[in-house]
Amino acid sequence: MKVGVVGCGHVGLVTAAALAELGHEVLGTDRDAEKLALLARGETPFYEPGLEEALRRGMRAGRLRFTPDPAEALRDAEVVFICVGTPPRADGEANLLAVERSGSTIARHGRDGAIVVEKSTVPAGTADRLAEILRREGGGRRFEVASNPEFLREGSALRDALEPDRIVIGIGSARSLRTLARLYEPLTREGHPLIVTDIRTAELAKHASNAFLAMKISFANALARLCERAGADVAAVADVMGADPRIGRAFLDAGLGYGGYCFPKDVAALERLARRLGYGFPLLREVARLNDEAVEAAVEKIADALWHLEGKRIAILGLSFKPETDDVRLSPALTLADRLLAAGAEVVGFDPRAGRNAKEELPALRVAADPYEAAAGAHCLVIATAWREFRDLDLVALRACMAYPVVVDGRNLLDPEAVVAAGFTYYPTGRPPLRPEAPAPPRPAAEPVRAGPLGLSTG
Ligand code: UDX
Repeated sequence: MKVGVVGCGHVGLVTAAALAELGHEVLGTDRDAEKLALLARGETPFYEPGLEEALRRGMRAGRLRFTPDPAEALRDAEVVFICVGTPPRADGEANLLAVERSGSTIARHGRDGAIVVEKSTVPAGTADRLAEILRREGGGRRFEVASNPEFLREGSALRDALEPDRIVIGIGSARSLRTLARLYEPLTREGHPLIVTDIRTAELAKHASNAFLAMKISFANALARLCERAGADVAAVADVMGADPRIGRAFLDAGLGYGGYCFPKDVAALERLARRLGYGFPLLREVARLNDEAVEAAVEKIADALWHLEGKRIAILGLSFKPETDDVRLSPALTLADRLLAAGAEVVGFDPRAGRNAKEELPALRVAADPYEAAAGAHCLVIATAWREFRDLDLVALRACMAYPVVVDGRNLLDPEAVVAAGFTYYPTGRPPLRPEAPAPPRPAAEPVRAGPLGLSTG
């Protein structure tokens, strides 16, 4: 099938590459000509495992192309995906300007009868506005609107697109359903389930899914605060909870909280939507507050370990909002760095991929070339993002180059015993700290050791 993709960001490119892999003819367009030039050379503007290869494969096969000319991209497309950003406004409400503009562009250049699919995450009810624009500006051509939310995780987005847990399609007509079912037939044939709903349900289901996952993380983080006080272990509590299939273990890892482009914005947007519709949903505000508290708790832990933050040097390992990405948008690691800098500490960060983006986002942050350079002279080492390679750090070498032997593990990534054996005091998340065994005080050699009444040494 011929498919147009409006917006070549993370979602748009993954959608375009995946649909080309499924055998469709895809034309992508974007307002950013520089980005398109990069794509034409087979390069992506961000890091996403496997995406560059998939784009090149699609282009080589002649099934995937990018053009700055929306007329060319949309002229023949039976299905047009809207994949533009819906960033939060200051009050948390989703900014739908780019969706509106895409609607106008499609109304001008799209072909009669095309199905216009919202892939961007939008509040329930957006499809009606979109349909109105297409009607008003379409010059008599008819379009149908549908919703097909994405559930892509950065770092595994292509796999998520090609091996989805579910394909959700919100439709308003049997014709839309037939067309979209045909589009995804290569996936449904392999057993990936297709869930068909009305359009508003599909729109809301996306926000609800992300908000629920965010709630699980915030629940785990609140438990972490409690476990630290109660002397329990939050990861073990999560294991016990997660063994119940009604709860599930996923997204119960306590840490510095969630970041990235989706969860913070989607929780806020759903809360705003609920309020606009006259339903408070205060749980969502609490989810966001607990997420902020997760970083605050780490700041307090570091301050407590170092007595004062002023004048201390702190090494932060991991700057991206999660491993396997160079994305630093709303990264808890950078929020933490910012808070420490504001408290008068010097902060040196390292990230396997996100160093450059982090420096751009937070210029006061020093970015080191490797973990050991970051740790040199530091009073505290913080694990802020769970990059796998940090598990293999040479802890003895780190200890040797640091000023104080203090590790704060904001992601419970390291092996506690190994950290303590290397001579560090270890502050995990949601568990009491671990200290190296204090050496036994020397005994005066002349005193004889006498046995006490129970045979215990009283020396
Ligand atoms: C998310 C959704 O998972 C995806 O379905 C949706 O389409 C887009 O938003 P993404 O933002 O790429 O994907 O990342 P995800 O892997 O979900 O992680 C989000 C954040 O939560 C990260 O900052 C991660 O570190 C944090 N997280 C995740 C936790 O703190 N604890 C967990 O247990 C899981």
